[in-house]
Amino acid sequence: MVRHLYVHIPFCPKVCPYCSFYKEAGDRNKTKAFLEAVLAEAEMSADGLQPETVFFGGGTPTALSAAQLEFLIAGLRERVDFSAVKEFTIEMNPATVSREKASALLALGVNRVSMGVQSWDDHLLGTLGRVHSAAQARRSYEILREAGVGNINMDLIFGIPGQSASQWRESLLKTIELEPDHISAYCLTYEEDTEYFRMFTRGEYAPEEGKDAELFETAMDVLPGAGFEQYEISNFAKPGRECLHNLAYWQGADYAGLGPSAFGTRSGKRRRNIPDTSEYIRRIENRLESHDFEELIPEDLRRSEITAFALRTKYGISSAGADPETAAALAANGLAEIVSGRLRLTRKGKLVADAVAAELL
Ligand SMILES: C[S@@+](CC[C@H](N)C(=O)[O-])C[C@H]1O[C@@H](n2cnc3c(N)ncnc32)[C@H](O)[C@@H]1O
Ligand code: SF4
Repeated sequence: MVRHLYVHIPFCPKVCPYCSFYKEAGDRNKTKAFLEAVLAEAEMSADGLQPETVFFGGGTPTALSAAQLEFLIAGLRERVDFSAVKEFTIEMNPATVSREKASALLALGVNRVSMGVQSWDDHLLGTLGRVHSAAQARRSYEILREAGVGNINMDLIFGIPGQSASQWRESLLKTIELEPDHISAYCLTYEEDTEYFRMFTRGEYAPEEGKDAELFETAMDVLPGAGFEQYEISNFAKPGRECLHNLAYWQGADYAGLGPSAFGTRSGKRRRNIPDTSEYIRRIENRLESHDFEELIPEDLRRSEITAFALRTKYGISSAGADPETAAALAANGLAEIVSGRLRLTRKGKLVADAVAAELL
C-alpha cells in the first residue's frame, strides 16, 4: 500500500529567477484541462493508494482559485481513499493567500500550510524577484491564522546576494516572533537553467568564501534557542510539528506523484511525469503513459539514497550499517557521533553533510 501522495501544480503568479522547480506563469486557458488531467491520473493511480500524507507542491498550488482548488480536492477525494490522511499540506506564495481560499482549504481537509516567505527584508525580496512585500507576507500569515490554520511552515532563504549576517539574523528573529510551527531555512542554490545561474556564471555575483556556512550556523544558533528543533539539515520544528510527508520521503517510503514533473516510486520503480503541462494533458487525455522517465531502483542504490537522506535527519542511520573504520574516522574528526546504535551528524558534520554522506556510501 502506498501511503504518501504528492500533487504538482505547475503555475506561479510570476516566475522567480532562482527557482528550478517545474512551473510556468499561469496560463488561464489550460487550467481546467490540467485539473481534469490530474483527476484522470488519480483515478488510474488509485489502486493500492491510501495516503496518510498529502502534499500539494509546485509551482504555487494557491495560484489556483478557491473554486479550482475545491474542484481538484473534492475530485481527488472521490477517486482516492483519503480516510487515513493525517497531514495535508499545501504550499502557498504570500501573494496568493485570501481568507476565502484559506477557509475553503480547511473545509476540504487541508491542515498544514507551507508559505514561501524567503525574507522579511523588502530589498532582498526584490533581489529574489518575489511578487510580494514583507508586509504582505505578514498579512497573509495573519489571514491564515485567523481562518484557523493550526500548522504553518515558513520557508526562508539565506545566502541571497547582498544579504548581511545581521539581515539574516533579523529575518530569523522576525519569523520566530510570529510563532509558526515549522521553519525551513534553505541555502540559496544556483540551479542550472535559472536566471540566477546565468548571472553567477557570467561572474555578476561572487559569493563570499565561508558566508553561507556562517549564515547556516546562525540559523543553528537562533532557531533551537527559540524551541525549533533541527530535525533535518534545513528543517526546524516545534515539538510534534515535523513534516510527516517529508520525513517519510527521507526514510525511503513509496509515494505516488500526480501532475507534470511529479516523481513517484512504487515497488522498486521510480517514474517522473513529463515536465511539460500541455504534453502531460495531451497524454492523459489520450490515455498514453504520462511519464517520460522510469528506472528500476536496485537495492544498493535504494540503500545509498536512504543513507544520504536519513543522515540529514536527527535520527541518522544505523551505525551497524556503516563501515566501522569510516564511522570511527568521522567520529574522530568530530563530524559524526554514535549514540544508541545510530550514527548522526554533529553540528560540524552538518556543515559538510554531502561530503560525510559520500564517505559513508
Ligand atoms: C515550490 S516553492 C514554495 C511555494 C511557493 N511557490 C513560493 O515560492 O512561495 C518551495 C521553496 O523552495 C525554496 N527554493 C526554491 N528555489 C530555491 C533555490 N534555488 N535555492 C534555495 N531555495 C529554493 C523556496 O524557499 C521556496 O519557498
Ligand atoms: S519559488 Fe515558488 S513562486 Fe517562485 S518560481 Fe519557484 S515555485 Fe514559483
